[in-house]
Amino acid sequence: MKYTPKLPFLTGLALAALILAIAGVALSQDSITKLAPEAFGKHQRPPAVFNHDKHNEKAKLEECVVCHHGGKNGVIDRVASTEGTPCADCHRVKPADKTTGLMRAYHKQCVDCHRTKGKGPLACGQCHVR
Ligand code: HEC
Ligand code: HEC
Ligand code: HEC
Ligand code: HEC
Repeated sequence: MKYTPKLPFLTGLALAALILAIAGVALSQDSITKLAPEAFGKHQRPPAVFNHDKHNEKAKLEECVVCHHGGKNGVIDRVASTEGTPCADCHRVKPADKTTGLMRAYHKQCVDCHRTKGKGPLACGQCHVR
């Protein structure tokens, strides 16, 4: 049989690319420790502290869809998971209609759960830490 050195080389490259892609996703999640979406423009408050992975581990949130829901045309879809999609892709800073604005979306999601569970910060300065 003729030896084809190209094939294992390419397979190796593809594997390396795959590993990098997976590591990239893990890293990008790891890297979230604060939230300061550009959509707000100039922020009034310091960025909210949110260590994505540590927070979700501590709070025992295994279902991504709890926060990363889907939806369109003013109707929320609590089953379709949209992890990786910024909230600002769907929530406008100043919505023209009655949909949930971006600040309210964050506040409602974060604070409502903390209140319901009786755990996690409720005061402005505990999330917007100077
Ligand atoms: C407590 C709520 C919450 C849970 C649970 C949660 N996330 Fe997130 N996640 C967020 C928020 C908030 C952001 C930032 C969104 C934004 O930029 O508007 C985010 C961002 C991300 C991003 C984008 C990373 C980046 O660097 O831009 C990924 C990917 C992601 N989450 C994946 C997941 C996966 C996978 C799960 C389930 C294992 C999960 N999330 C569970 C709240 C959550
Ligand atoms: C794919 C589009 C989409 C993404 C991404 C998305 N949402 Fe929503 N969300 C909707 C739609 C549609 C509704 C229903 C209409 C409304 O209230 O704006 C909704 C409703 C809400 C509500 C009000 C209903 C409730 O559950 O209390 C909150 C709060 C909310 N979203 C927070 C968030 C947060 C925080 C993020 C990011 C982690 C996010 N959303 C990402 C589409 C989206
Ligand atoms: C579905 C429930 C839920 C949602 C949504 C949620 N949290 Fe939490 N959070 C918790 C719980 C439970 C704790 C307490 C964890 C513990 O210490 O046992 C907590 C703790 C925290 C803490 C304390 C430090 C830490 O990492 O443990 C911060 C800060 C925090 N949350 C910020 C946020 C922000 C910002 C958001 C919105 C982007 C958010 N949380 C959304 C449940 C939630
Ligand atoms: C549970 C955490 C939490 C609490 C408590 C909280 N916020 Fe936020 N807030 C957020 C998150 C997450 C965002 C979106 C990320 C960001 O802009 O820091 C946000 C965004 C904002 C914004 C828009 C962005 C900016 O800085 O201009 C303002 C204003 C704001 N919050 C004010 C307040 C005030 C005032 C309080 C107290 C009444 C408060 N927040 C309490 C998590 C919290």
